[in-house]
Amino acid sequence: MTQATPLSRKIIIDTDPGQDDAVGILLALASPEVDVLGITAVAGNVPLALTVKNARKVCEVAGRGDVLVFAGCDKPIAKALITAEHVHGKSGLDGIELPEPEMPVQDKHGVDFIIDTLRSEPSGTVTLCPMGPLTNIATAFERAPDVIERVQEIVLMGGAYFEVGNITPAAEFNIYVDPEAADIVFKSGVKLTVMPLDVTHKALVTQERLIPFKDMGHVGAVVIGWMDFFERFDIEKYGSAGGPLHDPTVIAYLIKPDMFSGRFINVAIETQSELTRGMTVADWWGVTDRAPNAMFMGDLDADAFFALLSERIATLQTT
Ligand code: RIB
Ligand code: CA
Repeated sequence: MTQATPLSRKIIIDTDPGQDDAVGILLALASPEVDVLGITAVAGNVPLALTVKNARKVCEVAGRGDVLVFAGCDKPIAKALITAEHVHGKSGLDGIELPEPEMPVQDKHGVDFIIDTLRSEPSGTVTLCPMGPLTNIATAFERAPDVIERVQEIVLMGGAYFEVGNITPAAEFNIYVDPEAADIVFKSGVKLTVMPLDVTHKALVTQERLIPFKDMGHVGAVVIGWMDFFERFDIEKYGSAGGPLHDPTVIAYLIKPDMFSGRFINVAIETQSELTRGMTVADWWGVTDRAPNAMFMGDLDADAFFALLSERIATLQTT
């Protein structure tokens, strides 16, 4: 078990696993720089019942049945849920068969866990790490506005600028599923660091980058199984050399921020137009007078990213 250190950054992972979310959770559980206070599942890639189950499966792959896993919101704030089985498979975690999880789901609602944790931990010491639609985060902010100023930072995967969209011509999936929630979060005033498709599409899981996982026993076989399944969508769509590892960039940033580069800019969310709903309107070139509200990443050192992933996930191997 990876022990958090006194310097560990306390985080809540909010997630809709999802093979890429799953690798992000493994990276967090394998890294002493972060202390995972809890994992809150949200409806996104697949319905909530499956994201909750998948979050527990991932914790058990890491040998961490002690992690607190909570069920959050089962639908977006305003519209019907849109899922992505075409990318992640019917289970949301296709690619390798894993046993039904034995670890419990906590009784408390995920949104209440976020609120209670922000109220009980010293102000400014908890980072929220959303890797799916922002429904849980926005609902917590709406239900308990007092917690907003207590958040240390939000580091999220979502949005796009040059890469524009992956679920529609204009929008990235996490933002598209719940644009109203994203609008609340991006207007909240919380320190915001964004990992958009512009970064994650440079973190491609090539066959060469999977080689180290072949010598990592069960956990390595699981990651390879997930990646082999997950990459199909992007290879077919973009002709890319592998699938983009979107969500682990959130955790990698907490561990080695210098691996990333971007700009502090204004990012606004389109919620009205049916044509561009969920678009992150990123003022990359500073052409508006809208105040900057997000550190919007544009690039990463992909080799360093995969070196960190394989180094840390190797520490989780049991057999
Ligand atoms: O657009 C990519 C994002 O949508 C990732 O978080 C992936 O898991 C899906 O949720
Ligand atoms: Ca996700």
